[in-house]
Amino acid sequence: MNRSKIHRLLQSKNPLEQVLINGWVRTRRNSKDFSFIEVNDGSCLKNIQIIAPSSLPNYGDIQRITTGSSVSIAGSLVPSQGKGQSWEIVATQISVIGPAPETFPLQKKRHSDEFLRTIAHLRPRTNKYSAVFRIRSELSYAIHTFFRDRGFRYIHSPIITGSDCEGAGEMFRVTTLDIHNPSLREKKLNAEQDFFGKEASLTVSGQLSAEMFALALGDVYTFGPTFRAENSNTRRHAAEFWMIEPEMAFCDLAGNMNLGEELLRYLIHHVLRECPEDMALFGNFVDKTLMDTLHHIVSSEFVRLSYSEAVEILKKSKVSFEYPVNYGIDLQSEHEKFLTETHFKKPVILHDYPKTIKPFYMRLNADQQTVAAMDILVPGIGEIVGGSQREERLEVLENRMDEMGLFKENYWWYIDSRRYGSAPHSGFGMGFERLIMMVTGISNIRDVIPFPRTPGNIDF
Ligand code: 4AD
Ligand code: MG
Repeated sequence: MNRSKIHRLLQSKNPLEQVLINGWVRTRRNSKDFSFIEVNDGSCLKNIQIIAPSSLPNYGDIQRITTGSSVSIAGSLVPSQGKGQSWEIVATQISVIGPAPETFPLQKKRHSDEFLRTIAHLRPRTNKYSAVFRIRSELSYAIHTFFRDRGFRYIHSPIITGSDCEGAGEMFRVTTLDIHNPSLREKKLNAEQDFFGKEASLTVSGQLSAEMFALALGDVYTFGPTFRAENSNTRRHAAEFWMIEPEMAFCDLAGNMNLGEELLRYLIHHVLRECPEDMALFGNFVDKTLMDTLHHIVSSEFVRLSYSEAVEILKKSKVSFEYPVNYGIDLQSEHEKFLTETHFKKPVILHDYPKTIKPFYMRLNADQQTVAAMDILVPGIGEIVGGSQREERLEVLENRMDEMGLFKENYWWYIDSRRYGSAPHSGFGMGFERLIMMVTGISNIRDVIPFPRTPGNIDF
């Protein structure tokens, strides 16, 4: 007998003589001649109801099956007598694979997100978190499909790297030197004696690698984990997060903005179409305005606005922001919120930022003061995409790196690419977790990552 998934069984058109499912008990209710057991196998939000007749040889044990126990059930799929479900299984055999004692922390009641973070190993067994992680999986698939349909190639950029793409110094150092060894200092052991013979860190972005491949394969993207040692404990920053980074050769800033907008729309459409049940849970229990927000994002054209225009709007707003607005400041989340939620009430693409607040690789505009940067801001999240046209002119790039005090030797290969057949190119990074937050309405990044890493937190 083949194992079935509840997801498949519930879509069945006909009754089935023999089915076998494995899953975890959500609830059990005993009546005179039957026990009713709700089982979930994680394949979908819905449980399947199992009817266990008292004629089963182990009925005594079945009547005592506890919430959380894993079970294996054979029986037949029949139209349900009860309300709320189309099919149920009349069991011919029930085995308890792994019992869960009464101390199982997920009893039938709603638990707070804060509590569930303390049992991150068990939270995917709840309705809400299983839905989050099914959506996460579905979105990964949709991202690859989006790019493949458009002829982009998937590049695996390295996780251990010697260069700081963002130049912000927020790298996690990777070393095999024994930091507990007192002779480390005495012997003046340094990076040269380290594993790679050089300082190495976890990557903050796959962009620099992606650029090299865009200048060879045309349109490429990376999609992988990135790491930032920023000591900020906000609801939208994690120390380890995933980023989607497309990079397009012969593409300017306008083309870059268009791709970002198209990608966001496509992904929202995808989950609305493919995951209606899980999405309904978020709309009903996490954020009542979610569906309206998402439909609105999908149907509205994103605003395109220069940084300086945005600063003017913010200044004229007469809102007393915690961080006062002046030309040259890095916009804070309160400013992003005002633009997307109060002023325009839709996604906004800000472009052409002052060069002083952006990394070295962004293309210098003719005014010599701004760079061809673009950030996409969405309601509820703020910045979800950050990108730019890249500086493809060798001399301008080198000047910029000098100006910013970067150690050019570390980037020799990157600079070299501007020497041989350099070409205009553009790309961006989309925060994968911020995307999941946007489509689920979940407000804390810790709750969309299987095992989140934030300052002071590396349990699990
Ligand atoms: O704006 P960022 O720093 O851009 C880059 O890293 C570029 N190298 C990307 C590129 O052009 N290829 O980061 C891109 C996005 C942000 O807009 C945000 O959505 C997300 O990555 N992000 C974070 N997400 C979670 N936790 C953090 N600490 C994040 N930092 C950035
Ligand atoms: Mg950014």
